Amino acid sequence: MSNPPYDLALEEAWEQDLKRRYPETDYDPNGKAKEAFRNYDEPGRDTVREFYRINHEHQTYAFVLGKKAEFRPGAHGRRSIWESMEFLNTLVDDSDPDTEMSQIQHLLQTAEGIRKDGHPDWFILTGLIHDLGKVLCLHGEPQWAVVGDTFPVGCAFSDKVVYPEYFAANPDIHCPEYSTEYGVYGPGCGLDQVHLSWGHDEYLFQVVKDFLPEEALYMIRYHSFYAAHRERAYDHLMNDHDRAQFHWVRAFNPYDLYTKSDAPPNVEALRPYYEELIGRYFPAELDW
Ligand SMILES: [Fe+2]
Ligand SMILES: [Fe+2]
Repeated sequence: MSNPPYDLALEEAWEQDLKRRYPETDYDPNGKAKEAFRNYDEPGRDTVREFYRINHEHQTYAFVLGKKAEFRPGAHGRRSIWESMEFLNTLVDDSDPDTEMSQIQHLLQTAEGIRKDGHPDWFILTGLIHDLGKVLCLHGEPQWAVVGDTFPVGCAFSDKVVYPEYFAANPDIHCPEYSTEYGVYGPGCGLDQVHLSWGHDEYLFQVVKDFLPEEALYMIRYHSFYAAHRERAYDHLMNDHDRAQFHWVRAFNPYDLYTKSDAPPNVEALRPYYEELIGRYFPAELDW
């Protein structure tokens, strides 16, 4: 069965919904998001809701383990980082004309925002690549298994996850082993032991894990784990090392959410700087 084409209007609606839930004015890296989940109507809200309904139903423990095996690095060819950026950019081809921001532009705007604030080179590089796992869509994966908030599977779903009511349709809730607070995990076991719902974060982490500092890897692997980095749910599965490293996940988040502007970055002018930066950390080609 083939999947429908990537829906950029849905991606746009989903990003708008993130900003509705986590407005810039509420950003507090040391505290919980204030007034999160405010309730006002917004166009695209129903598509986002429908997106999470399907996502929450199908992201089971078995599904995640299956996708991790299917997308082990190397199973989908070798490409350079820049080639993957260009490959990802083909997602705009069927674009709604209202959705002007290409994938490369989002990556460059995120990286440029980080660069302007004087952060280290690996932080800038993380901004540049953080969404490259979305190439999953170009391998035929449905959007609900690529983007959206992530959350642990194999244990009880937190009601701090967006639209928690849709977990009622997830078959794992009927499995006693998966439905306790700790499920298949132990108290404070550390997130490295925990399987999160499958998507672009985990996929990219697996591809780049040998090449970047640990802080960067936390940002990549957990940037969509809003229930943890914004809502502070799942603290019971984290260890002290995770809690310390989440400082970086929170430091990254505003650049992801709030650097979009109507002035598109000049891709060709920026390319030499970024190609050189990529070369400082990555080999010519990576296993995807
Ligand atoms: Fe992302
Ligand atoms: Fe992003």
